[in-house]
Amino acid sequence: MHATVLEWYALHARDLPWRRPEASPWSVLVSELMLQQTPVARVLPVHAAWLERWPTPAALAAATTGDAVRAWGRLGYPRRALRLHAAATAITTTHGGEVPQAYETLLTLPGVGDYTAAAVASFAYGRRHVVLDTNVRRVIARAVGGVEHPARSVTRAERDRAAALLPGVEADGSSDAATWNVGLMELGALVCTAASPACDRCPLVDRCAWVAAGRPAYDGPPRVA
Ligand code: ADE
Repeated sequence: MHATVLEWYALHARDLPWRRPEASPWSVLVSELMLQQTPVARVLPVHAAWLERWPTPAALAAATTGDAVRAWGRLGYPRRALRLHAAATAITTTHGGEVPQAYETLLTLPGVGDYTAAAVASFAYGRRHVVLDTNVRRVIARAVGGVEHPARSVTRAERDRAAALLPGVEADGSSDAATWNVGLMELGALVCTAASPACDRCPLVDRCAWVAAGRPAYDGPPRVA
């Protein structure tokens, strides 16, 4: 399953600025806060302008919170701008201006919860960490669990299953875990969507437990989204 997802990702993923090899950890952190409640298309221009204006955490920390909220523009939920400003201040005063690498340290930053800490540790630093956003959760629920949707909140069994699926560490110390995470995320965003999965375009169709079961409808507790 690893090679299939990694190959699909290499061929079909969107080229997003925060995914490029040269993207700084700060660019990744900013993107993840912006993407928490806002679609990619709306994030793109604001993210570019933000990084142009405040290329480092220290640059943002030196700006006013009012400037941050105004630059957040129409992304919505402007409290995220205040949290990002507070995170930039904490990074500047407590972490020597560098976005922390460790999941546990990232978790202490304002606005950074489990998902964002894992995403930054994985995408910015290549740390081997489970990243469970709604898209990743749905792909695993279907391909491995054989059900249409995951439970409303992350269960222990689900986290264990995702951890067991994570690519391991190579002999040279590297790991494909980060690309695997973003590959599942992209597969969920572009192919294995919540409402109309395009199984005819899915690289996992031949081994998908949900497809093998005849794509049964979700029969769990009521879902919000
Ligand atoms: N790539 C990395 N993180 C992402 C996210 N949260 N949404 C979309 N693409 C991403």
